[in-house]
Amino acid sequence: MKKYRQQLPLLPLMLLMIVINVCAAPLPQFSQEKHMGVATCASGVCHGKSVEDSTENVMMTEYRVWLTEDDHARAYKTLMKPASKQIAKKLGLKSAHTAKICLDCHADNVPRNMRGKKFQITDGVGCEACHGGAEKWLSDHKETGATHEKNIKLGLYPSEKPRDRAKLCLSCHLGTKDKFATHRMMGAGHPRLSLELEAFTQNQPAHYKVDADYEKRKGSISSVNMWLTGLFYKADSQLQLLQSKQFRQHGLFPELSFYECHSCHRPMNPSRWPVEAASNNVPPGSIRLDDAVLVILASVLEVLSSEKAATLKSAIKQLHAASLKDKATIMERAKAIQAILNDVSVVVIEKKYMVTQKKILRKKLLADAGTGLFRDYSSAEQVFYAVETLSIDLKDENKYADKLDKLLAAIDEEDKYYPEQFKIIAQLFFQKLSE
Ligand code: HEC
Ligand code: HEC
Ligand code: HEC
Ligand code: HEC
Repeated sequence: MKKYRQQLPLLPLMLLMIVINVCAAPLPQFSQEKHMGVATCASGVCHGKSVEDSTENVMMTEYRVWLTEDDHARAYKTLMKPASKQIAKKLGLKSAHTAKICLDCHADNVPRNMRGKKFQITDGVGCEACHGGAEKWLSDHKETGATHEKNIKLGLYPSEKPRDRAKLCLSCHLGTKDKFATHRMMGAGHPRLSLELEAFTQNQPAHYKVDADYEKRKGSISSVNMWLTGLFYKADSQLQLLQSKQFRQHGLFPELSFYECHSCHRPMNPSRWPVEAASNNVPPGSIRLDDAVLVILASVLEVLSSEKAATLKSAIKQLHAASLKDKATIMERAKAIQAILNDVSVVVIEKKYMVTQKKILRKKLLADAGTGLFRDYSSAEQVFYAVETLSIDLKDENKYADKLDKLLAAIDEEDKYYPEQFKIIAQLFFQKLSE
């Protein structure tokens, strides 16, 4: 029986979650154990084999997959490229590959006293940037008798656990109060950051196999639950960041990357004011906070509990209203939404979704997209990821390949995104589902 699927009564589960949050594993970046370096994992008798080793319960080719296929292995080298040099120059940094603000996400930038002999910053986002400092588990984890639980006690990061994975990936793909990709960096040329946990999990070239043996050791989680975990944690992290110095520290304007990019960056004609969207209680011409994951969660909740959905929707409106007032009110509203989400997240994340419910969820998102509710680019993008994930999970992605392709084409090029087109494509997809 997999833990996340257990049907526990609500109250103990919530207590459990509070405990989980308190004891949540520290991010690898802050681990108490030294980071020994990719070279310590990569030898030909360890994770650097050239062919998979069937006598082991893991592939043993992890290093090769990472090195040859995974962008994380190139993250440091990216900082040496002309694009990064330009960014550094525009920001007045000496160089990108020595600047802490760049290394914090493009490498395993732990303090010097936390680096082992073979550690090299040039390895980029190496094994221990995701799996935690190996100082204490390095020698033990290959011995007979080593268990996953024991490794975790010795500092291995529990990246198989959805919440911990969300926290890990979001730490670089959204940012934290300590490291953040600001609008100033984007103005200098940095790409916009975006993450949908399930899609990014699938897109990272896999150096592991979720087979029977894996499930026995670590359990497994359905893609729908992973998607929902990602949404909740992204929402929670964004709301937390709204209350941090990353949002507040600026002068006249708050940090602009918290806002829907295309509320500023778009052609002026035709008018794109999103009448139907949750933010419609701020007047036309206002800069709108990016509420993509929140409005999608509200749609998901409408399927599960209309009462909770109404509470969330009204809180989102209040956040938008607060955005016209002052930073203190924004922080208050952000906190209130966190509490609402915290109240429902366990039930939504851990629920076992039946085929019919998954179909209803997909239909609901497309129906709402078809009314124009998700006009903003960032929410349209999340709708695509969600509909794709649900279709793959429902194993009918081939049946709807044509519709999925069209949905993707509508969001593929951010600068050519046209809300009205996305809306119509969603309507047609919805009609097809209803046939
Ligand atoms: C230490 C920071 C860091 C962590 C932690 C991290 N990433 Fe990344 N990730 C990056 C950087 C930086 C890049 C861009 C690399 C480049 O091209 O230079 C990247 C690129 C990617 C890409 C390819 C880009 C794309 O748009 O397809 C995927 C997929 C990805 N990461 C998934 C994940 C997942 C899943 C997790 C969590 C298990 C994760 N990342 C954790 C920093 C990180
Ligand atoms: C909060 C984490 C974070 C910080 C800080 C950060 N980056 Fe990134 N960067 C990323 C991630 C994640 C990606 C991959 C985005 C994607 O594809 O989804 C990326 C992508 C890039 C890319 C595009 C890579 C490609 O192959 O297209 C460049 C160039 C880049 N970063 C340079 C920099 C520079 C220079 C700095 C310092 C000024 C910096 N980054 C700071 C997380 C970060
Ligand atoms: C961007 C994050 C990231 C990086 C970098 C990374 N991994 Fe992983 N790794 C994961 C995730 C996510 C999983 C799947 C969840 C889990 O089992 O913990 C995983 C799983 C594994 C597993 C477990 C397989 C199993 O069957 O239990 C091994 C072993 C592993 N990684 C080794 C490595 C090695 C060696 C490197 C460096 C060469 C590396 N990883 C780099 C994220 C990462
Ligand atoms: C409040 C309005 C506003 C918001 C919201 C906003 N930007 Fe900007 N952005 C600007 C302004 C103003 C400039 C500077 C344009 C100039 O220098 O002429 C700019 C410049 C840029 C540039 C450099 C390109 C250029 O034309 O100079 C990029 C890239 C960029 N922003 C990306 C983003 C991204 C990504 C987001 C969302 C995460 C975002 N912006 C949100 C107002 C905004």
